[in-house]
Amino acid sequence: MNGPMRVGVTGSFGAQLKALRETAGFTQEELATIAGLSVHAVSALERGERRRPHVETVRALCAALDLPGPTCDALLASARAPADANAVEELSTVALPLALTALLGRDTDMQTLRQWLADPAARLITLLGPGGVGKTRLALELARGIGDESATRVAFVRLATIRDPQLAACAIAEALGLADISASDLPSRVRVACAGRPMLIVLDNLEQVVDAAPLVADLLTSATTLRLLVTSRAPLRVRGEREYALGPLALEAGSETMSPADLARVPAVRLFLERVRDVQPDFPLTPANGPIVAAICRRLDALPLALELAAPWLKMLTAEDLLRRLEEDVLLSMVGPRDLPARQQTMNATVAWSYHLLTQDEQRAFRRLGALPGRFSIEAAAAVLDGHEGASTGSDDALQAAARLIDKSLLLRADTSVASQPLYQMLETVRAYAALALTTAGERDDAMEGLVRHCTGEASLAAEGLVGPQQARWLERVRDDLDNYRCALGGSLSATVRPKRQTSRGRCGLSGSSAVTWPKAARGTRRLWTCRLCRRLPNRERSSERLSCATRRRNSGSRARVSTAP
Ligand SMILES: Nc1ncnc2c1ncn2[C@@H]1O[C@H](COP(=O)(O)OP(=O)(O)OP(=O)(O)O)[C@@H](O)[C@H]1O
Ligand SMILES: [Mg+2]
Repeated sequence: MNGPMRVGVTGSFGAQLKALRETAGFTQEELATIAGLSVHAVSALERGERRRPHVETVRALCAALDLPGPTCDALLASARAPADANAVEELSTVALPLALTALLGRDTDMQTLRQWLADPAARLITLLGPGGVGKTRLALELARGIGDESATRVAFVRLATIRDPQLAACAIAEALGLADISASDLPSRVRVACAGRPMLIVLDNLEQVVDAAPLVADLLTSATTLRLLVTSRAPLRVRGEREYALGPLALEAGSETMSPADLARVPAVRLFLERVRDVQPDFPLTPANGPIVAAICRRLDALPLALELAAPWLKMLTAEDLLRRLEEDVLLSMVGPRDLPARQQTMNATVAWSYHLLTQDEQRAFRRLGALPGRFSIEAAAAVLDGHEGASTGSDDALQAAARLIDKSLLLRADTSVASQPLYQMLETVRAYAALALTTAGERDDAMEGLVRHCTGEASLAAEGLVGPQQARWLERVRDDLDNYRCALGGSLSATVRPKRQTSRGRCGLSGSSAVTWPKAARGTRRLWTCRLCRRLPNRERSSERLSCATRRRNSGSRARVSTAP
């Protein structure tokens, strides 16, 4: 946990360091040991013999002293010449996820939204629409365009699995590369970080964080060069919000009677055909099947995700069969809460329809993978397929299960920062259905135990890896796994998973041991979790666990400093 705010310490760098060290109750030797520096270095800094320490040295000292963000910023600023005093360099722009397919249609949407983004008054733009309509796809395209064409920094924050505004703040900080930050520090740190350069942050799937409006408002008022592009199924209702309702792809009335050449240019049909041809490259569009293809697209409300889910079935079915099944299948008319907007019902029903066409083994694999929140490795997949028993599903079996789901567009190969490790991912609407099916089947706790086991194993492997020669690779691997760590820790907190096979100590151990592996920018999230987990311990266990968490944190502070230096 952060200590009291110590931002008020003033004077030269050396004087500040000395005061902070004494407040923390460390001798120079102790501070030097924890920060991984020589005693001579600490002493020279305090006496002012070294006036311009390297930024990493200051960060190591901040970590060793467990200083809150504003105090770190103040110490960093006093260690730099005035021109370097703002923390812009601290901001690392996170690469936008790659789109593996071309954007189809959307010319008018792109044109309008580009104009909005060029308007200084539009600082909060929310792309609204049902699941699967293409909000994320469009937001990424816009953000990439802005990043390529202007001096604007662009960052992408995936919020699909986050429900708590504090964790959302941590995720934003992580995506911006802001280190050691707590939720309340975020607006001021973002202001410093954005100073002098425009910044666009894409907040993806904000509808999950229902109480995020104050956070968004704070961010916008703190940093005037900041703009937010939000994707959400519901408006935020924040002052200044500009809502853009994204509809389905174009599918003109009368498409059913168009010639094949004209029909193939209609965006919804084009998307459907492209996905059909992924599995059946020579699929023709003819005067005979054109009206049926157009009717399928209409039946699916021209929703991109629904089109993508239905298309692979043309490998097994004729177009007529597919249309008949879509029209007759009770699922399409019955599934989903009746009060959902019509397009959301179509979407839910289409995922349900795809699910019910799977074999029983495929259904089991599909819903178990729904326990994995973001991108995941094949080893993580094998772990949730196994559940608490462990080690019966090898990665070959998991790969086969994944391949079958990929064939049906229920799973995607994700782009990844680590070329040697393929990652997989479900689109959020699909994952939400899989997660619901997992709970309905009574398998959620078991899958979560598999995930916790996987994360604990990964954390200890990463602890080694991060201080070895493959440091950079491990750092990316841990970053790619952060959603899984968050979810495993969340599962550990849940009352249903807890009593069965996990000790409370084991749960704190996950956050504590993985403390070594959390990249520096993610320590805010880790700290929050450690604190929440420790709060759940009985009093007697709590004090000894706090002590060992603190020791681990100190130890990891110096090791992680080496391993996560940018
Ligand atoms: N214009 C488009 N061209 C090509 N593919 C598209 C287009 N729009 C969406 N898609 C594809 O459709 C699928 C669903 O899109 P996306 O994930 O953007 O939906 P979403 O509205 O963000 O859904 P959710 O609310 O569940 O997050 C993705 O595979 C995406 O690549
Ligand atoms: Mg989305």
